[in-house]
Order: sequence, then structure tokens, then C-alpha cells
Amino acid sequence: KRKIILDCDPGHDDAVAILLAAKNPNLELLGITVVAGNQTLENTQRNALRVVQHLGLDIPVYAGCGQPMVRDKVTAGDIHGETGLDGPVFDPLTRKIEAEHAVNYIVKTLMNSDEKITMVTTGPMTNLGMAIRMEPKILDKIQEIVFMGGSYANGNVTPAAEFNILADAEAAHVCISSGLPITMVGLDVTRKALCYPNIVERMRKIGNKASDLFADLMTFFCKTQKEVYGWEGGPLHDPITIAYLIDPTVITTKPMNVTVDASSSQSYGRTNCDFFGYMKKKENVNVGIDIDVEKFWDLVEAGLKLYD
Ligand code: BDR
Ligand code: CA
Repeated sequence: KRKIILDCDPGHDDAVAILLAAKNPNLELLGITVVAGNQTLENTQRNALRVVQHLGLDIPVYAGCGQPMVRDKVTAGDIHGETGLDGPVFDPLTRKIEAEHAVNYIVKTLMNSDEKITMVTTGPMTNLGMAIRMEPKILDKIQEIVFMGGSYANGNVTPAAEFNILADAEAAHVCISSGLPITMVGLDVTRKALCYPNIVERMRKIGNKASDLFADLMTFFCKTQKEVYGWEGGPLHDPITIAYLIDPTVITTKPMNVTVDASSSQSYGRTNCDFFGYMKKKENVNVGIDIDVEKFWDLVEAGLKLYD
């Protein structure tokens, strides 16, 4: 079993990532750490707790950083609504957040582990960046960083930048320049996994609490995607990180040299991916360039069926 920690900012697609990771027999989800991103930390932590409670998951949830390392906070209320997880109706919350700060939890868990652990991030990379700066020895304990963020082509907030990187480019720089094995699941891939109404219907038909949650989440998500971007189906960004860990053949990757622009005013948050190797610099990231969409939806369907 591959041990993972999922750092996220739920967020509709983050919620689906939790859902897929928690029950997969090949993954062991040790903990969920939460960061400010799609919404404030107060909202994203509540949302993570709502998802684990709703699905009956016995996985601890830790709250991390409520602010990016350097820049001012940005959120994505236009996509995920006022709560960060608008759409589904949840029971009153009884699950509690863990007392320990997420960054301390990440450092402690990695340092105490005999086996290497994979770090998955589906929000701004603040918590992991802070952990690396706080205790660089954790680098020896990380098997791989798999992150949703960036793109080698266009952004989704500015022409240059994707939201997770734009929301904390300094933290992304710390993680991406760490020298660790890294897989980037960026917009180039995730924009091909569009959740059209027929997919929502296909999943709802499964008829359990996970498939209902998926369908309720995606119904709201598709509505805002249409309002903001004019698309019929919403790109299911974050769960592709988990799909890749379940079956790496879901995406095609290409090794590239990737640097994060954290200094220009126009392109702050851009992942500069040297697709053609012009710069003759060391390839430090396996960048997702394509996705087997059918395989991905089959995997999501199989993941939902693992619930009662
Ligand atoms: C990313 O930004 C968030 O809105 C999504 O949850 C995803 O992680 C896509 O740019
Ligand atoms: Ca996210």
C-alpha cells in the first residue's frame, strides 16, 4: 500500500479527491491537511470535516496555513461558492479538527515514518512549502510530490497562471525546486477531464452516499464553470492526482525542467515548463501532458462503488 497525505482546500474537486483516495485498497490515506485556497481556512477545514463525516471516514483532518507565505490571500468563491463547497446538503458537523497544526503534523509524520510517504497537494502549496522550510530533513522521507497545479500552456486565473500556483507561488517554488521526484497534474491534463451532465448521471445511478455526493457537488460545479468559463462540463482537476496514484497509466507524462515565476508582475504564478528542452537544464518534474479520459471515468466510477 502506498502511504499518502492529502493536502487540500475543499473545494468541489478536492472533495472528490478525498472520496477517491480514502477507500482505495492500494492507497493508505494517513491524514488530510487543509489550507486556505478556494476559500478561507475556516471554510476549507469545515468542508473537509463535512466530507469525512458524510462518508463515515475515520481519517484525521488537520488545519494548516490560513495565509500564503508572502503574497496576499486570494480565494475562488466564483467557482466553489460562498462556503467553498456549495451545493450538497450536509448534516450538522460533529467531527472535530485535530489540535495539531497541519505543518507540524506533516513534519512529525514524515520524520517518524520508516517508509517513504507520498505528498499529494490539490490546493496552494503553502503547508508543504512551510514544512520543507521548517525541517528540510523531511525531503528524505518523501517518496514523491504529486500536485494539481500549473500548466505548460495557459492559466485559468490569468493568461499565465493556474489558481493553486497563483495563490502561493513562493510555496510552489519551494516544493518544485526541492529536487524530489515530482508529478505535475496541470490544466493541460485536467481540462480534458470535463464532467459533462451525462457523467454526472452515470455516477448518480450508482445510488450510494458517495455517488449522490459526487453528483450534488458536480451539479453545482458545472453551473459555475458555465457561468465563469462558458463550458458545459467542469474540469475535474484534483482527483486526477489520486487517479494517477491508483493507476499511473491514466495520464501520460513528459519530464521537463519546471520553474515557478514568483517575481514578475504580469506572469506571477506561471509554471515555466521547458517542453522542448531549450534551456538544457535538469528535468525536475514529470509533467502530465495527456489523459485517458475513459479510463479516468471508469476509475472514478469504481472508486464511488467502494462505498455503501
Ligand atoms: C484548482 O483550483 C481550485 O479551484 C481547484 O480545486 C483546483 O485545485 C484548479 O485551478
Ligand atoms: Ca483544490
